[in-house]
Amino acid sequence: MASSHVMKDGPPPGPPPRMQPAMMMFSSKYWSRRGMSLDSAMFQQQQRHTGGQMSRRTSFCPIKEKPDAEGEAEDSGKTAVVFSLKNEVGCLVRALRVFQEKRVNLNHIESRVSRRVLNEVEIFADCSCSKKEFNELLQLLKDHVNIVSFNTPEHTWSAEADEDEVPWFPMKISELDQCSHRVLMYGSELDADHPGFKDEVYRQRRKFFVEVAMNYKFGQPIPRIEYSLEEVKTWGVVFRELTKLYPTHACREYLKNLPLLTKHCGYREDNIPQLEDVSHFLRERSGFTVRPVAGYLSPRDFLAGLAYRVFNCTQYVRHSTDPLYTPEPDTCHELLGHVPLLADPKFAQFSQEIGLASLGASDEDVQKLATCYFFTIEFGLCKQDGQLRAYGAGLLSSIGELRHALSDQACVKTFDPKTTCDQECLITTFQEVYFVSDSFEEAKEKMRDFAKTIKRPFSVYYNPYTQSIDLLKDTRSIENVVQDLRSDLTTVCDALGKMNTYLGI
Ligand SMILES: [Fe+2]
Repeated sequence: MASSHVMKDGPPPGPPPRMQPAMMMFSSKYWSRRGMSLDSAMFQQQQRHTGGQMSRRTSFCPIKEKPDAEGEAEDSGKTAVVFSLKNEVGCLVRALRVFQEKRVNLNHIESRVSRRVLNEVEIFADCSCSKKEFNELLQLLKDHVNIVSFNTPEHTWSAEADEDEVPWFPMKISELDQCSHRVLMYGSELDADHPGFKDEVYRQRRKFFVEVAMNYKFGQPIPRIEYSLEEVKTWGVVFRELTKLYPTHACREYLKNLPLLTKHCGYREDNIPQLEDVSHFLRERSGFTVRPVAGYLSPRDFLAGLAYRVFNCTQYVRHSTDPLYTPEPDTCHELLGHVPLLADPKFAQFSQEIGLASLGASDEDVQKLATCYFFTIEFGLCKQDGQLRAYGAGLLSSIGELRHALSDQACVKTFDPKTTCDQECLITTFQEVYFVSDSFEEAKEKMRDFAKTIKRPFSVYYNPYTQSIDLLKDTRSIENVVQDLRSDLTTVCDALGKMNTYLGI
């Protein structure tokens, strides 16, 4: 991970490198950028779910438009409601009379044949009024029509305040280019205590890797690297020493996937695997992919990648003078520490869960999630067959700390995001505490519960078909997700039915 920690096998490093970079925040006008005009807010989600087939422009027929009335009340705001009514003479007039009665100004209304109820029409009404008037309108309107969807007053009228409060985050996978290119510290800017600081050839090589990563864009094949003999030799030492420890220290899932990586991606002592091959391998097994990154990302940008099952990986190799020490994550750490676990579907789900929780969260909450990430995906332990095993990449790529974490000297506590998130992450020494989970499934459920405590004016749903994020913030967007789930449940019920028939139950 190009986020924040050090492998600690070699000599103790000097001054701590900048491992906990300040948050990189975007103060962009989130809502306005996302089209929080009421027209689009009502229909944006639907357009996404139907692949753009249901455009408001084509499916609704404008009836009339009316400019905003002058002299609106000071707390007046724009909002919208969709309701359905019987396709009979007089029904629409009765409904519109309610608007008149409550002094709600209609800016624009449209109609279409209902797709839900036979012989009904759906009306979209874009209106201006105060919160109080809108609430009263909805109460009265319910007596005459079925309300399909509306922008909640809280959401509508607080939209302006939210603009500055919700940090920008990628809404589709291609927008991760912005996150991955927003590097806080380039891999070529070596600190004075870095083993390669005085090695001009090494520094030039690092610049090459920076260029590769900064030129990379979503959807492109990851450039294949021709590693030098020196780099392969360094990797070989790390590979050889670590693989001796894995049978007794690594978790079951890791041990299952490592031979597969040897077979499919060339994980061998004399070969550094290519990220493109690794990405292909992961995609087939857990839906994860990797992409090259030039250096450190902020926790926010790094976690955003996880939300899309994308892992930012460095491609450079640590300096050859000390193969068992690196002051920053390098490709040995990524390939040996992270990749084997990312191929496990349950671990992948757990990782994505942390990523999704981070989208649009406050700085404070992102920091808590980053700490949970640190003590699980980087330094996590699990219990298998009554014994402690490592699944954290920081451990699985560090001979010294891997031994230490499973020894009697280590302090081990149960993973609980509520308390783990307050634990200090140590950068230049072994961790004071390690956290253990019974299973990835259990850790995921705990993270999911923890995510509910994060304050956001919406919930997020990852749409795997479009590789984008759906914001669940009104009845319409939630309904779309429910429809997807209903379809999945139908498939499950069908399978259960077939099983029952087969078993004669
Ligand atoms: Fe990492």
